[in-house]
Amino acid sequence: MTVTARTHHVRRGWVTLTDLLARVLTPLAWINLAVEILIVGTGGLVRLSGSGLGCPRWPECVNGSLTPVRHQAQEWHKYVEFGNRMLTSLVSIVAVLLILAIIGHRRSSASDRRALLPPALGVLGGIALQAVVGGISVLTDLNPAIVALHFLISMVLVATSAWVVWQLREHRLVPVRREVRLLGAGTAAVAGLVLMLGTAVTGAGPHSGDATHPARFGFSPRSAAWLHADMVMLFSGLVVAMLVATSLVGARTALRRWRLVAVITVLQGIVGYTQYFLGVPGALVLVHMLMACLLVVALTWGVLALHAPTSTARPTPAPKASRTSAHLPG
Ligand code: HEM
Repeated sequence: MTVTARTHHVRRGWVTLTDLLARVLTPLAWINLAVEILIVGTGGLVRLSGSGLGCPRWPECVNGSLTPVRHQAQEWHKYVEFGNRMLTSLVSIVAVLLILAIIGHRRSSASDRRALLPPALGVLGGIALQAVVGGISVLTDLNPAIVALHFLISMVLVATSAWVVWQLREHRLVPVRREVRLLGAGTAAVAGLVLMLGTAVTGAGPHSGDATHPARFGFSPRSAAWLHADMVMLFSGLVVAMLVATSLVGARTALRRWRLVAVITVLQGIVGYTQYFLGVPGALVLVHMLMACLLVVALTWGVLALHAPTSTARPTPAPKASRTSAHLPG
């Protein structure tokens, strides 16, 4: 085969692959969001089972081996930690498939798909960053500030993945007043503080990572928990304000998203107080972490629903008289 024929062959294969993936773009975007949440859960299992230093080295698991070895001292903890490391491959593969699907989708569609590629590339870049930050957390003996950073970057990845899903769905949005958009952005910023303070409670408490030598912040977990809960009160008040504001301006899609934010906030508050009064049992802490992910997803959609887009990235529907635009008044 000549060089030109081989190049042609490779190009055809590439086009076929990306076109095939483009057909499953929407499910892939959901799977990407699901695995980003899943890895937060397995990361939580590592921490809650005290397996944080199950692989005491990075990128090797133990001196001279990338995988756990039988004579290693860390017993079953090595498998828990190594399993979580392996999940990085899964989230990376899904992110790469998503990017390929977007490339195929862009080629086959006339409308603007450019909106999808930057967040999908952001997810892949964030996964690479997380591999490094995860490594630093091991090399610094689970420094609680690094563990907190690791969790918070994951929250950004969950939000970015939710953004990709959002772009692929049809929305009936109305332009919303600037004041309401600012209120939404402010509420999201306070949610960021709630998450940060949550990680501070964790870093000060018994679940900061390694069971034998937990590296902890020096302050009292009790005071940190109350500060965290106080910030939740402020956040809850702002969510109520968003319900009122979106309802007053008649932004029905946004109102629905903020209702979801409100429901998750109430449930998360109940879980938060219950785990606090029960002495932070591992199972509830895990639920609390996963619900924080769901809250981030709902909030991302809530904020995005306040911005009527100038273009849509959802797959082009078959022409239908009833579906005229993605920006119909809600
Ligand atoms: C919107 C509501 C809430 C959100 C989004 C939220 C979020 C979080 C997050 C992200 C963490 C850190 C998880 C980690 O580092 O792995 C955390 C930890 C914690 N939160 Fe909340 N939280 C909320 C409400 C509450 C409330 C009302 C309480 C009641 C005191 C509470 C008590 C705690 C405690 C005790 C921890 C530490 C658990 C541990 O030992 O790991 N949370 N929270």
